[in-house]
Amino acid sequence: KEEKFELLEKKNKEALLGGGEKRIEAQHKKGKLTARERVHLLLDEGSFEEIGKFVMHRCKDFGLDKEYYLGDGVVTGYGTVNGRLVYVFSQDFTVFGGSLSETHAEKIVKIMDLAMQNGAPLIGLNDSGGARIQEGVVSLGGYADIFYRNTLASGVVPQISAIMGPCAGGAVYSPAITDFILMVENTSYMFVTGPNVVKTVTQETVTAEELGGASAHSTKSGVTHFSCPNEVACINDIKKLLSYMPQNCEEDAPIEHYEQQGDERVAALNDIIPDNPNQPYDMREVIEGLVDSDSFMEVHKNFAENIVVGFARIGGRSIGIVGNQPASLAGVLDIDASTKGARFVRFCDCFNIPLLVLEDVPGFLPGTDQEWNGIITNGAKLLYAFSEATVPRITVITRKAYGGAYDVMNSKHIGADMNYAWPTAEIAVMGAKGAAEIIFKREIAEAADPEAKLQEKVDAYTEKFANPYRAAHRGYIDEVIKPEETRAKLMKAFKMLENKVANLPKKKHGNIPL
Ligand code: COA
Repeated sequence: KEEKFELLEKKNKEALLGGGEKRIEAQHKKGKLTARERVHLLLDEGSFEEIGKFVMHRCKDFGLDKEYYLGDGVVTGYGTVNGRLVYVFSQDFTVFGGSLSETHAEKIVKIMDLAMQNGAPLIGLNDSGGARIQEGVVSLGGYADIFYRNTLASGVVPQISAIMGPCAGGAVYSPAITDFILMVENTSYMFVTGPNVVKTVTQETVTAEELGGASAHSTKSGVTHFSCPNEVACINDIKKLLSYMPQNCEEDAPIEHYEQQGDERVAALNDIIPDNPNQPYDMREVIEGLVDSDSFMEVHKNFAENIVVGFARIGGRSIGIVGNQPASLAGVLDIDASTKGARFVRFCDCFNIPLLVLEDVPGFLPGTDQEWNGIITNGAKLLYAFSEATVPRITVITRKAYGGAYDVMNSKHIGADMNYAWPTAEIAVMGAKGAAEIIFKREIAEAADPEAKLQEKVDAYTEKFANPYRAAHRGYIDEVIKPEETRAKLMKAFKMLENKVANLPKKKHGNIPL
């Protein structure tokens, strides 16, 4: 019996070493942690339970019948993050470069099924050279098994992907389907085809980092939601992100204990909107004034900066925020801003996270670039996402709400529950100058002094529409409030809406303009 116990111990030790000391050293030399070190950083101490530690590949080709590693290049199992159950897989680059074999895929699939059936988030720590080349199509089948489950799990449990090394070729499509991607700066990259293929096909010379590093994907493509300076920061971001989410689509996000602070008045909010309506300000300042201190976690920070999205808490409750950003491109909606906003809204709606919209939008961005690249279809995504969302939805118009963008940004008409406006709000079809130039075109042209006439008409239009009262008279705005009382109003309104039930018409699924 003792011998049998010893054999188990030996195998356990062997499995812990992955591809061996040398390769672990090489991994550390690159500034990377091992698959197991990552899992231990992520999960609460002592909570990790491994599944499939002794799984081995079944390939007999190209010499693989002589090379076996227990675990086959991926560590899988479950544990807790801040006491809450999660399922995790962590690819081990020290074993065949973390490449995905049939059995490696089977291990991932097993925990994906468990995550879905038991309603807990799935976290993937990716560090892989892609398909196990020796296995050929079997490995591709393994990827497809994963993609399929990523899709089935979408909207059932939160799925988070951290990219902590290579992630290339077909491998990118699993993270792409998940809800959030985090990339580690300088040690990770994602691309469909690498620099060599790019050189051959398009004659472009580009490094892996330039092509698909964290910087490229957090600023240019928007593929990654977070760019993290190192692996520890990346894992801390995953933990923080989870804190805003429920375990699955049937639950609500956890509520943090919150002690009310007096009347919750925030006087500083009164001073944020500049007197000149064309002067920018930072919507993040408004957010900071409205939410519980230090609770805002921005998502997609460096991509489409003309819209700000992220999670926060208000009175301890988790909310998702979508705000136009006057400090970037005057807060205009363009293709990237629309898709960024739409994806975030849909995540929040999937997982019962109420939405707060902060609106200061001069309209959609004009131009051939935008039109030819489909601002119509892409802008419609944001409109569709808001319209379809059944979570509690509150809008605060801080300043401009012009044109179609007024409708899109969670207006009353598309199902928002509470719509507030600050006295500085301007709710109109367009800015006063543009409007006057169109509707009084002839009158201005025929005037003895066209400039003076234009100004007169601009003033008239401004007086009529550059305020929130027309909309409030109609009930499109529920209440015009002073900035300083907004936090208190939001706390009450979100509490009032906590049991909201709203059902969409029966359908198989809608057809969002993709
Ligand atoms: N299948 C099988 N083994 C793989 C592999 C794959 N897809 N990718 C890497 N490996 C192995 C390497 O053979 C090497 O084995 P060794 O330690 O026994 O020599 C080990 O993993 C480490 O790879 P190495 O190339 O030394 O690491 P690197 O950091 O220099 O480069 C990559 C990493 C990912 C850029 C490189 O390994 C690569 O290009 N891999 C192939 C990518 C690919 O085309 N995948 C298939 C299509 S999806």
